[in-house]
Amino acid sequence: MKAPKSVFVCQQCGAQAPKWLGRCPDCSAWNSFVEEKEMPIAEFRGAVRALGGGAAHLYQDVDTIVAERIGSGVSEFDRVLGGGIVPGSLVLLGGEPGIGKSTLLLQAAAHFAAHVGPVLYCSGEESEHQIKLRGERLGVADAPLYLLAETCIERLIEEVDRLKPSLLIVDSIQTVFSLKLQSAPGTVSQVRQAATDLLFTAKGRNLPTILAGHVTKDGSLAGPKVLEHVVDTVLYFEGHQHHSHRVVRAVKNRFGAVSELGVFEMTGTGLCPVPNPSKLFLAERPANVPGSAVLCTLEGSRPILVEVQALVSSSTFGNPRRTASGLDQNRLSLLLAVLDKRAGLNLSTDDVFVNVAGGVTVEEPAADLAIVAAVASSLRNRAVSPDVVVFGEVGLAGEVRTTTQASLRVREAHQLGFRRCVMPDGSLTKDDIPAGLDIVGVRSVGEALDALM
Ligand code: TYD
Ligand code: MG
Repeated sequence: MKAPKSVFVCQQCGAQAPKWLGRCPDCSAWNSFVEEKEMPIAEFRGAVRALGGGAAHLYQDVDTIVAERIGSGVSEFDRVLGGGIVPGSLVLLGGEPGIGKSTLLLQAAAHFAAHVGPVLYCSGEESEHQIKLRGERLGVADAPLYLLAETCIERLIEEVDRLKPSLLIVDSIQTVFSLKLQSAPGTVSQVRQAATDLLFTAKGRNLPTILAGHVTKDGSLAGPKVLEHVVDTVLYFEGHQHHSHRVVRAVKNRFGAVSELGVFEMTGTGLCPVPNPSKLFLAERPANVPGSAVLCTLEGSRPILVEVQALVSSSTFGNPRRTASGLDQNRLSLLLAVLDKRAGLNLSTDDVFVNVAGGVTVEEPAADLAIVAAVASSLRNRAVSPDVVVFGEVGLAGEVRTTTQASLRVREAHQLGFRRCVMPDGSLTKDDIPAGLDIVGVRSVGEALDALM
């Protein structure tokens, strides 16, 4: 038998080379090559067979199975998963250190154990005592929840076979390693191997599995891109260091809608689902203060109301500053140019600061009209009425363009007690307008500003 060949793999991008290189020719990372042994082909074949391949079937002969879902008991978490976890699916939950991944997973595990069946919580980062300590803070009750402090994937799978849990949690994928490979845990090949082994375990035993994953400095999931291809669902945990709310976002979901969003609040007793995030984001909104507008933005299929704040103050230097937080800086520059040219607002000697309150990030173009409204309101020093919601995309000619899902947005605004909605003209039919909500359709930025102030 031939000795397994060794290859050098870039830990940043996964590029391979037959010998060590100081700098990756693909991604230009320095000192990123690590020696790894290739897996013999025979083992790979064995692993593939575990997926249950074989002969091809005719499309119409394949049975339709409606994916059943098991609720984890944490409502917002189920929501991002598309209504619960699908048996046999592999879910990856990524996020920065300290954001609350382990907390959420332990809470979900405890609920699951109490209501569905035994759960195996495998942690390579904390000891059983540490997990227990956290569990006590979270008020985890007696339930068949098994804790395992183990990093060897083969041992982990043995425990799975012994305990036959209904849910497996691995915290985190970067800490587990396989005996088949000689490289250190966390390297590209180890992460790939562990994820593939867990995939076969999940599919072969119809066992739902959740993996926690680290993210790199720039915010993407650490380890190879292949990790995201292997799993069925990729969730990102996002949050602001200085805000208590956390957002879990689905970026890939083979069993549900993507860009679905779950909102949590970090409290002294763990993560609490926030069923109505708009209320949370608008809680501290000042009434009748110039420079504030309420936007109805859409995250996945979920409408959320957020406050856009602007401050326009005269610049002391020749080069005025434009600062945007929670939205795209270039978009702000563009909108200020539109305001200047199409609505006759002179901002050339003013500093402009725009912020989305509550640490929320808004990416969709429907935010344009709210940004414009907040800036104009601050410049003219006239408040936008507090019971008005705004949304709409602004074009370069100063026109207001229609946005998607207008009826969803106005319904959310209506539910939260808003009375007027300034939005693109012609987006709604009569039937979509909730009773008691005054819809003001506008065609241009000028019309919008007249309607608002
Ligand atoms: P953790 O789940 O350990 O993060 P991760 O696994 O993503 O690294 O998050 C821990 C943080 O959450 C920590 O900074 C303390 C805070 N926390 C609370 O505020 N309340 C709680 O009840 C718990 C358990 C943690
Ligand atoms: Mg953790």
